[in-house]
Amino acid sequence: MSARVEVAGPDAAYTVHVERGAIAALPALLQSAVTAHAWAVIADHTVAVLHGGRVRDTLRDAGIDARLFTFPAGERHKTRAEWAVLSDAMIDAGIGRDGAVLALGGGVTTDLAGFVAATYLRGVPLVLAPSSLLAMVDAAIGGKTGVDVPGGKNLVGAFHQPRLVVVDPDLLDTLPDAVFAEGLAEAVKHAAIADVAQLDELEHDAARVLARASDAVEALVRRSVAIKAGFVSADPLEGGRRALLNFGHTIAHAIERVTDYAVPHGHAVAIGVVAEAAIGEAAGITAPGTARRLATVLDALGLPTAPPDGCDADALLDAAAGDKKARAGVLRYALIARIGVPARAADGGWTHAIDASIASVALASTAHRASPGHPSRGPDDGRVVV
Ligand SMILES: NC(=O)c1ccc[n+]([C@@H]2O[C@H](COP(=O)([O-])OP(=O)(O)OC[C@H]3O[C@@H](n4cnc5c(N)ncnc54)[C@H](O)[C@@H]3O)[C@@H](O)[C@H]2O)c1
Ligand SMILES: [Zn+2]
Repeated sequence: MSARVEVAGPDAAYTVHVERGAIAALPALLQSAVTAHAWAVIADHTVAVLHGGRVRDTLRDAGIDARLFTFPAGERHKTRAEWAVLSDAMIDAGIGRDGAVLALGGGVTTDLAGFVAATYLRGVPLVLAPSSLLAMVDAAIGGKTGVDVPGGKNLVGAFHQPRLVVVDPDLLDTLPDAVFAEGLAEAVKHAAIADVAQLDELEHDAARVLARASDAVEALVRRSVAIKAGFVSADPLEGGRRALLNFGHTIAHAIERVTDYAVPHGHAVAIGVVAEAAIGEAAGITAPGTARRLATVLDALGLPTAPPDGCDADALLDAAAGDKKARAGVLRYALIARIGVPARAADGGWTHAIDASIASVALASTAHRASPGHPSRGPDDGRVVV
């Protein structure tokens, strides 16, 4: 079954096309969205080996000039250095202003290749073919691109809206279970900020989702895409309500930074969602019991819910203070009133300034939460070479 979700951008709308097997239809889909003389297909080494050659050949067989550009897999490579290598390689290959970028991969690839497209010759068209669950339900939608820098995550980047997003759930067949679960963290986040029925469903279907029952996975992808599309359509440049998508992310980014990205983004988000629900509860903003319910569903989905060793409250709050969401020295959080219902701040905005002493006590309480200690896949450096 296929689904098309329209996303409003600041200038033009684009379609998120969700369909099993959609990769085979890429030539027609690309040509319907962009007129380009040449396509730079950008993938990390892992995805390039698994799917990149096939995608390039599918395009070439249809008479489309497509070239594959790769970089080492992993968050540690979402950097200015890789942005420069990819951009230079495209210049060397003679990709001109009539070229376009097809990003094929997880969220690291959609962010990095998106930033290449945003800046290459002052901007070329971008199409995204997300291959991780996390990228399908979240990173590929909304036009945020960028790289990590020593000062923090995603601190250098640009808004560059895709012309089209092609979601082929069949690509998930090669995704390791641990990485699949990471995407579920963002789906839980979406349910937490917008859709209590979706959280009920995730609780009810956790075992089938983890077993990758295709109907359950497709329903989850479609619902989560629709939630994200709703937020970004209403607020394409994050002037207001879109900030709610950052629920859990002030703490998540701090965990990634403190652990030097040894904790993958999805795990950091799972821990961050529980921590920020606890912070909201401690501040009297979030209904009591919310953090516990979120922890229970995340745990059932195979995700961690407590900060790892070395991430005590002080370390996290210090790291978060260096995050871009800290304005004028005050740490701000996007919070929910209860599952499915965002909490609006007294000033009418969507983020709340919370005193460090309150956050610190709440964080300490999450650290003591019994955590079964789900295995982390650890940092990957993508040592596969094409
Ligand atoms: N721009 C946004 O709005 C937004 C939103 C959410 C997350 N993000 C970003 O997304 C990133 C996390 O994304 P991610 O978890 O997808 O990370 P990722 O891109 O590193 O992918 C995770 C791992 O899965 C592998 N992989 C991807 N697809 C595969 C497939 N089909 N088969 C086998 N292996 C596959 C990758 O090679 C990588 O090793 C973070 O950098 C985060 O900041 C961005
Ligand atoms: Zn995220």
